[in-house]
Amino acid sequence: MQTTFALKGNLVYTPVCGELAQHPNSYLVCENGTVAGVFDVLPERYRGIPVEDYGDKLILPGFVDLHVHAGQYAYRGLGMDMELLDWLEQNAFPEESRFAEETYAEAAYRIFVDALLHSTTTRASIFATLHRPATLRLMQLLDQAGLPCYVGKVNMDRNSPDYLRETTEQSLAETRRWLEESSDFRLVHPILTPRFTPSCTDALMAGLGRLQREFGVPMQSHLSENLSEIAWVQELCPGTRFYGEAYAQFGLFGGDCPTVMAHCVWSGEEERALIKENGVFIAHCPQSNMNVSSGIAPVKQYLQEGQKVGLGSDVAGGAHLSILRAMTDAIQCSKLRWRLVDQDTPALTVPEALYMATKGGGAFFGKVGSFEPGYEFDAVVMDDSTLPTTRTCTLTERLERIVYLSDGRPCAKYAAGRKLF
Ligand code: GUN
Ligand code: FE
Repeated sequence: MQTTFALKGNLVYTPVCGELAQHPNSYLVCENGTVAGVFDVLPERYRGIPVEDYGDKLILPGFVDLHVHAGQYAYRGLGMDMELLDWLEQNAFPEESRFAEETYAEAAYRIFVDALLHSTTTRASIFATLHRPATLRLMQLLDQAGLPCYVGKVNMDRNSPDYLRETTEQSLAETRRWLEESSDFRLVHPILTPRFTPSCTDALMAGLGRLQREFGVPMQSHLSENLSEIAWVQELCPGTRFYGEAYAQFGLFGGDCPTVMAHCVWSGEEERALIKENGVFIAHCPQSNMNVSSGIAPVKQYLQEGQKVGLGSDVAGGAHLSILRAMTDAIQCSKLRWRLVDQDTPALTVPEALYMATKGGGAFFGKVGSFEPGYEFDAVVMDDSTLPTTRTCTLTERLERIVYLSDGRPCAKYAAGRKLF
């Protein structure tokens, strides 16, 4: 592997939320896996390094999918006429139970990893299923593909059918074993994954809190997604004032436990304050929020409040793995929110959506999602000559057309300094 090289092309990224940095016909230098800088003329010290010239194409930071269920990819686009809780019972749980069988898991995860590899996504925070062997195989496939991801073995010890439920003891023992067995991947790391409060007893959550502190791993779950789910959590956890407390009481809500929560469609003032105080990441998944009739998350307000926000496909609540599609869905949902719910908060812009899709979600992985020096070298090359027009477009307009019109397949892709194709 070349440790120092450059890409040449039209560089577009968002160092600040809502502001595009544009460097036409410029060099992006990679040194030891990280960005060394962006230059319009290659400095003397880099003379002679290999340069991959992408001509007039656009080069963007790799995209981040902050919330996706690999174990649901097989039925994406199906069963979309139900609300969340019925949809889980009738679609998600039966499909996920099939991952007990290793040959099924192998076939399904190969399809998922291949789709992720050829998408604009370089990093993702992924739910697998309950099953430890299948989860480890998914981690291995992602590692071999060169995709630096977090992957979670899901925990569930209540409120699901017998065929997709562990005992508390089993769930904790399997999670410990999985954490021990997942330490030697190069790029892929484990993330604790209690499915959501209705699926996990207090004893399981307390045990996961202890494992979090022992292994120092991050955690992901779902929060305040759908009104019927939230009412159920209130019944299950009478001692809590809001849903987020059901996680926080076990030390599983940010602070020393890096946390990403999907959705936060209905988070109230107190919950939002705790999310902010504890630095919890919000994974906004607009397509899923529409499909399973959850609502319209106040994402623009979250940005204005200084919350940490990224985008998620939430496949298979969302039907599409493309984070470009998540960007347009986020923008369109925010327009409906402005029109129908809150006329004081304007809609999201393309640069804000690009920020969430790259640097916003990337921050969960460290210095990821930008071309500023020191950032991990993740990049995708987009060819918009496949989107013909008679107009001469500015770089901003070309970005906008890619976001709205592209099939989501980059022509080249780099993650953590390595060329994947
Ligand atoms: N809440 C608990 N499990 C799930 C899931 O699989 N998808 C979504 N969208 N929400 C959930
Ligand atoms: Fe989800």
